[in-house]
Amino acid sequence: MKNQIDRNLSPHDLPLKARQIKAGGMTAKCLDINIKTFGCQMNVRDSEVIGGLLARAGYEITDDEEKADIVIFNTCSVRQMAENRVWSAVGNAVNRKGVPPIIGISGCMANNYREAIFEKAPAVDFVVGTADIGKLPEIIKEIQKHKGSLNEKKIYETDAEFREDEIYHTGFRLDKEHAFVVISEGCENFCSYCVVPYVRGKLRSRNAEDILKEIKADVDAGISKITLLGQNVNAYGSPVTGHRSPVNFIELLKKVNVIPGLKEFTFVTSHPKDTAIELFKAIAELDKLRKYMHLPVQSGSDRILKMMNRRYTRENYLNLARSYREIVKGGELTTDIIVGFPGETEKDFQDTFDLVKEVEFNAGFIFKYSPRPHTEALKWPDDVPREEKERRHALILELQRKISKKLKA
Ligand code: 5AD
Ligand code: SF4
Repeated sequence: MKNQIDRNLSPHDLPLKARQIKAGGMTAKCLDINIKTFGCQMNVRDSEVIGGLLARAGYEITDDEEKADIVIFNTCSVRQMAENRVWSAVGNAVNRKGVPPIIGISGCMANNYREAIFEKAPAVDFVVGTADIGKLPEIIKEIQKHKGSLNEKKIYETDAEFREDEIYHTGFRLDKEHAFVVISEGCENFCSYCVVPYVRGKLRSRNAEDILKEIKADVDAGISKITLLGQNVNAYGSPVTGHRSPVNFIELLKKVNVIPGLKEFTFVTSHPKDTAIELFKAIAELDKLRKYMHLPVQSGSDRILKMMNRRYTRENYLNLARSYREIVKGGELTTDIIVGFPGETEKDFQDTFDLVKEVEFNAGFIFKYSPRPHTEALKWPDDVPREEKERRHALILELQRKISKKLKA
């Protein structure tokens, strides 16, 4: 293992609770692991993948955080609020009654802060990046071996660029009816507010055969519904990184549609710049594909869209929405919106408000802009005051609530 920090403490420096762990005698084969998931559906699937790898290595996966010997926090960095939630949950685990658990951080915060996590939270034992999760059984074994001893270790592994496809095939599924299936990892769109390209790396499309093999195994195990996952699913197979899948997204959808035994499938998330009417036609035509599309607009102002580096205009988006409604009759359309982006004026906000009114989304997820490390937007002052962000957030939320209600009636 590359990155190990030896603590080199005397036994008397160790907290009493840590010594109790050692006295209890930790063995690799009987420990309970609790995985706490924060953030998006990609993390829900990643937690399941982690669970599969650790179950295969002989650990017991438990829902009971209080009794777990090891707690892994699978974290989210998309907004500051998400990170705050993680830190407070880690604090609770450190201070829990009785023997404290071994604590690990995986997911986006692991890549965002790497070994600096040990400074912020000295009780954390290991940090594992989004593409490094395959190393978890080995890391945990190493931590256990030294926990409570003179050369207790801190381990961080955050540098991998690729995941081995093998990690998706343990057969470990928490839901018996529905499964998330990753089709691509990472994102290289570099929207100016978004931390994802910095923590999840470049876009990598999984090979179609591997994806189909995973889905077939799920269906054989009784699963009937699938959600295909990626940060930008409709760029699937694009030759962005040289790692090119021989099929494009629509071809992949067609292949999934004919898997015997599969009843329904859908996909998230799509980027408007990679969306064309061929995709809407596929949604309309493929019988098992849910008539649903999540198409984040983020803003209705051309000026803000440009600053966000979204690479489409308000008019492009409105045209897409119109075509979708025409082609996918009765289909659902949902979106994400950020209010209070740096420099967002009342006029910019009104443009977003009017777009929401015009498109009539079935549902919308509205977020207040949160400055993120590494991003381009961090260079601009976060100058929309908190109360103003809250006002704009509440106004769009209320508008969307009324629209959603009307469309459901
Ligand atoms: N601040 C607020 N919202 C954000 N999102 C992504 N980054 C930020 C940020 N820095 C939102 C976008 C994205 C959704 C998953 O989270 O709307 O589509
Ligand atoms: Fe972030 Fe933009 Fe990539 Fe979505 S498409 S993950 S918002 S950079």
